[in-house]
Amino acid sequence: MKPEIVVAPRLYNRVMEELEAEFIVHPLWQARDPLSFVAPLKDKIRGFASFTSYPVTAELIAALPKLEIIAAMSVGTDHIDLAAAKSRGIAVTNAPDVLTDCVADTGMALVLAVARRLIPADRFVREGRWLKGAFPLASKVGGATMGVVGLGRIGKAVAQRAAAFGMHIAYFGRRRQPDIPYRYYDDLVALARDSDYLMLTSPGGPETRHLVNAAVLEALGPEGAVINIARGSVVDEKALVEALAAGRLGGAGLDVYEDEPFVPEALLKLDNVVLLPHIASATHATRAAMGALMIANFKAHFAGEKLITPVV
Ligand code: DGY
Repeated sequence: MKPEIVVAPRLYNRVMEELEAEFIVHPLWQARDPLSFVAPLKDKIRGFASFTSYPVTAELIAALPKLEIIAAMSVGTDHIDLAAAKSRGIAVTNAPDVLTDCVADTGMALVLAVARRLIPADRFVREGRWLKGAFPLASKVGGATMGVVGLGRIGKAVAQRAAAFGMHIAYFGRRRQPDIPYRYYDDLVALARDSDYLMLTSPGGPETRHLVNAAVLEALGPEGAVINIARGSVVDEKALVEALAAGRLGGAGLDVYEDEPFVPEALLKLDNVVLLPHIASATHATRAAMGALMIANFKAHFAGEKLITPVV
């Protein structure tokens, strides 16, 4: 008998096909009311295939008494009520490493887009304004300082890319990391003061909520920019919008927001921000690899083997 799982949201086609070949898949994403959808399945569902855009709430976990594993096709697990899963002994796995390159590429792309004003420049050409004059000069990234917030796997990969562009690197985190050549700050405001680009790569969740607040943005200043490839919750979005609109912050490159897919109206009107729809890991190769890792975790679990990437 194939194990039965729920899936939400709908995942990448190739991943859905493989899930359907291995398991009995119940499309929770189609349900208007998730609790009524799972009620008749409650004694069957053993697995939950999840992704960042669909919260796995304590209520949903409680409605699935036979749930054994929540496997996320994402590195982030802040969409899962981990405490509720832990209290029931439900295994949780994520999909780290395989997305690091693409997320880091997006971080660097945002730095370049903000610094060189690539989006307004593209618009300038399309709107025929080049015929009337030259585009204003922009900022050079070589020689500028990138302050990385949360120097984990993704932070290190962006730092490596930024260093190749001739940027200076510094970082903030809970502790100084041995064997890391970059300057360490235990004070985020001080890092922001010394940075031109503040690159956010830390995990989401209550511990990092609004880590980047008005004081940090103020310290970054009118020549500085925030680049967020982490989670919207890491930044106080209201303070960000106010700082950008008032010119107290120079710019922003954002892939993530506090209430996705809703983006504050005020940001849409600003020319000094680049807005992406949470696509840092969204390439065919990477999403296929993330899906394969999620499925490998399911298979290991249902075969009684050691999980590949458990979340502890
Ligand atoms: C993740 O894996 O957590 C990413 O945010 C998904 O793109």
